Amino acid sequence: MAGSTLKIKDLHVEIEGTEIIKGFDLEINGGEIHAIMGPNGTGKSTLASAIMGHPKFEITQGSVELDGEDVLEMEVDERARAGMFLAMQYPSEVTGVTTSDFLRTSINARREEGDEISLMKFIKKMDSQMNTLDMDEAFSTRYLNEGFSGGEKKRNEILQLLMLEPKIAILDEVDSGLDIDALKVVSKGVNSMRSDDFGCLIITHYQRLLNYIEPDYVHVIMQGRIVKSGDASLAQRLENEGYDWIKEELGIEDERVGQNQEA
Ligand SMILES: Nc1ncnc2c1ncn2[C@@H]1O[C@H](COP(=O)(O)OP(=O)(O)OP(=O)(O)O)[C@@H](O)[C@H]1O
Ligand SMILES: [Mg+2]
Repeated sequence: MAGSTLKIKDLHVEIEGTEIIKGFDLEINGGEIHAIMGPNGTGKSTLASAIMGHPKFEITQGSVELDGEDVLEMEVDERARAGMFLAMQYPSEVTGVTTSDFLRTSINARREEGDEISLMKFIKKMDSQMNTLDMDEAFSTRYLNEGFSGGEKKRNEILQLLMLEPKIAILDEVDSGLDIDALKVVSKGVNSMRSDDFGCLIITHYQRLLNYIEPDYVHVIMQGRIVKSGDASLAQRLENEGYDWIKEELGIEDERVGQNQEA
């Protein structure tokens, strides 16, 4: 089979002693686009950060495997080198490092020593991908995300995606704060990655994005685990009806569906 497989099994994640992710299961194969939707505070970003190895999150149970390799045993940079990528909900500003330098360093960090991308090739690729994303070339020489508008940061996350060409990508709310044209451009960027060698998990609140990036599967996360899965029509139903019907099905009374509800 072409492409990679990310297998998340019975994952439990704690932050400072509070369990946020409580038994999360999902398998993403190359060629598949999965969308995760769910109310605020249900653990979507926590899940993404924990999979990528953010030290704040403690994994207390379960496994994450990329093509059979134990991801949780890998250092953060090894996860990236293995082909995993996270577009963050809140990208950090990095003073003193230009977008271009950051991208080139990131690409080379994923390559063997002696196999670094040539400057010519890098510039050509960056020009072409910035063009795909309608980005002004001035961004390449600005410090990473510094002073970028919300939408510009999101576009820049997708530029990283296109430059790094990961096997598995997690995109955390890449659509938040985008104007209509930017939404189309960002979607075009993600769609340009579509192939059997690319699996993607899109975290979003809005069905609108999924009109442009058609998901194969849509999952709903509540209380730190997937409580419902379906096809694109599930996202449509959520858009129309919200989450109450799922809460009713599950017998969740409390308005707060976050991790603290039993507290
Ligand atoms: N450092 C932290 N310390 C304490 N609680 C935290 C910390 N980080 C996250 N949390 C809590 O974990 C829960 C899940 O947060 P998370 O960011 O994963 O939610 P989310 O599903 O991404 O929400 P949103 O849709 O608003 O982005 C929230 O209740 C949040 O307050
Ligand atoms: Mg979030």
